[in-house]
Amino acid sequence: MKILWFFVCCLCIALSHVECGLYDGFKIYELATTNQTIGDGLDLSELSRNESFFELYSISGSPERMMVHPKAQADFLQLLNIHNMSYTIVNHNVGLTLLTEFITNSLLRRMYPYQGKLGTERYYSHAEINRFIEDLAKQNPTRVEVKTVGRSFEGRWLKTIRITNGDGRANKNVILVDGGFHAREWISPAAVVYAIGQLVNNYSVHSQLLQDYDWVILPVVNADGYEYTQLAADARLWRKTRQPSSAKCIGTDLNRNFDFHYKETGASSNPCEEAYAGPRAYSEPEAIVVRDLIQGLADRGKMYLSVHSYGRYILYPWGYMDQLPDTWQDLDEVGRAGADAIKAATGTVYQVGCSTQLLYPAAGASDDYAFNAGFPISFTMELPAGGDNYFNPPAADIDGLVKETWVGIVAMARKVIEKYPLN
Ligand SMILES: *[C@@H]1O[C@H](CO)[C@@H](O)[C@H](O)[C@H]1NC(C)=O
Ligand SMILES: *[C@@H]1O[C@H](CO)[C@@H](O)[C@H](O)[C@H]1NC(C)=O
Ligand SMILES: *[C@@H]1O[C@H](CO)[C@@H](O)[C@H](O)[C@H]1NC(C)=O
Ligand SMILES: *[C@@H]1O[C@H](CO)[C@@H](O)[C@H](O)[C@H]1NC(C)=O
Ligand SMILES: [Zn+2]
Repeated sequence: MKILWFFVCCLCIALSHVECGLYDGFKIYELATTNQTIGDGLDLSELSRNESFFELYSISGSPERMMVHPKAQADFLQLLNIHNMSYTIVNHNVGLTLLTEFITNSLLRRMYPYQGKLGTERYYSHAEINRFIEDLAKQNPTRVEVKTVGRSFEGRWLKTIRITNGDGRANKNVILVDGGFHAREWISPAAVVYAIGQLVNNYSVHSQLLQDYDWVILPVVNADGYEYTQLAADARLWRKTRQPSSAKCIGTDLNRNFDFHYKETGASSNPCEEAYAGPRAYSEPEAIVVRDLIQGLADRGKMYLSVHSYGRYILYPWGYMDQLPDTWQDLDEVGRAGADAIKAATGTVYQVGCSTQLLYPAAGASDDYAFNAGFPISFTMELPAGGDNYFNPPAADIDGLVKETWVGIVAMARKVIEKYPLN
């Protein structure tokens, strides 16, 4: 391990004299404010409409961060000066950081090749995750079933793993979990894979979770996007799918592509924006896969959990309007069980609440869709931020993050099982 870091350090020193791709010379500033609007009205999100400035979604209560194009540094500093805003630079060259991480990940892949188990030493490819769940099915034929549920735009197989306790009873209640909706949120598939490993390989400890409930899990929804972010340092921050959406821009925000109040709010019609809802609802084959899973399980499904990053939120409907569903107290109770368990385990504080109120409106998302389809509990869980960009927790942080997430998932599942016993 020491040799690895030595190697990486040498590399960084060497690389600091070369150009590091698309993000070469980008800097990340942290401002001495938690307010999007600084001074007498410089709106940072407004500023982000200029392609030289990128506001990193701020986590409620923490300082604002902006990523700034090398050509816009002087202008940005002048703006800060005009508004008497002090700052620190948290990253002096984003391109270099992404390249270093890319090389580190390649080395880790060689150090920890897939050997039938997925540990928490590194991030895994979509193909490795598929192999892992297939191997689990081979090793545990009575308890684990892998099903091909569709294909991504680029032709990758999307597979679910269904985990049971092997007693052969049909028609149990169901917990449906997915990860990797957004390509760059790597900690999401990692957390979901860890959950799979615990349910299957640590069955004796977690048998209660499988007594009257089956778990159905799709670890990487946006397989194309996820693979894309792994193939090159410059692509690390990609969010959307990979289906071309206009002559100039590629990809749709999968989590705006569901046909439930489609495009009404918090979704973009501009193919070049991050929250582009697509040319029409279900333009993306991956959204169709999740829709069909939800529909197929709606009569037995009690909890739908979509794992994202970042922000430390457990979010529930509605995302399409600023109003709570009638049963919001059930949602809140289950969400709080998760947040309380995580706080007790590690001290990490999650906020629990309605998407629109805690985060932002987002119509056409999968959690609203699943809730409306009949899942009484439906969450988007935003895992903690990591790295300077917030989407890039270093590999060394995977273990702590996925274990902490699992503590929350277990607590929510227990609450769900208590509230919705099998009839
Ligand atoms: C943020 O700034 C705006 C505009 O200056 C102001 O109206 C608002 O009260 C501020 N919010 C906080 C939380 O400081
Ligand atoms: C974006 O910001 C840069 C740097 O401040 C400026 O030169 C450019 O004119 C701006 N572009 C637009 C479209 O406002
Ligand atoms: C600038 O900010 C500092 C510290 O927040 C404050 O002491 C100073 O009065 C401000 N100056 C102006 C011109 O607003
Ligand atoms: C099994 O689960 C328990 C409780 O969460 C945990 O302490 C233990 O480390 C797990 N064992 C393995 C092999 O993951
Ligand atoms: Zn996301």
